[in-house]
Amino acid sequence: MKKTAIRGLKTAILSLALAGLIALPALAQEGAIKYRQSVMKAVGGHMAAMGAILKGTGGQARDLKVHADAMAALATVAANAFPEGSDFGMTRAKEVIWENPVEFKKVVQVFIDESAKLAKITASGKFKAAAAQFLHLGKNACATCHKKFREKKK
Ligand code: HEC
Repeated sequence: MKKTAIRGLKTAILSLALAGLIALPALAQEGAIKYRQSVMKAVGGHMAAMGAILKGTGGQARDLKVHADAMAALATVAANAFPEGSDFGMTRAKEVIWENPVEFKKVVQVFIDESAKLAKITASGKFKAAAAQFLHLGKNACATCHKKFREKKK
């Protein structure tokens, strides 16, 4: 009687631990994906805001630097937004990110470099050069990465 009670307790603890082991990483994964998408939304927001200022459809020229600085900072955050295990669930991040981390890191570095360059140009107040660099950033970082590493919308 005593033995079976202990065995029963062990089984209960084991199943709790198993439930924990299964539930915790799943939650962490969901959190990591949501975090990444929030970072990308912020990136998209600053990009759209800069586009409006550069085209003259909204905002103020003096605020361009604020958005460019935020973008440069966010590029370094994006580098940390793809942890191992955040590859499945409600995400459009492609498996190849983790299969080919060397290539992925290269594109992340392009993002960091191009946005840092834009921040530097906006500090000098050269509007035309900023517009050109804005296009470079969009093409070489955003579009290049999305093409290779982001699933198309279904
Ligand atoms: C190094 C790769 C990479 C770069 C560079 C990159 N993105 Fe992304 N982006 C992704 C991936 C991958 C996703 C999908 C994330 C997910 O669903 O988990 C994404 C998602 C997004 C989303 C959708 C967010 C959401 O879920 O609502 C927007 C908007 C976005 N990116 C904008 C941009 C813009 C603008 C730039 C350039 C300034 C950029 N991204 C640069 C990889 C990148």
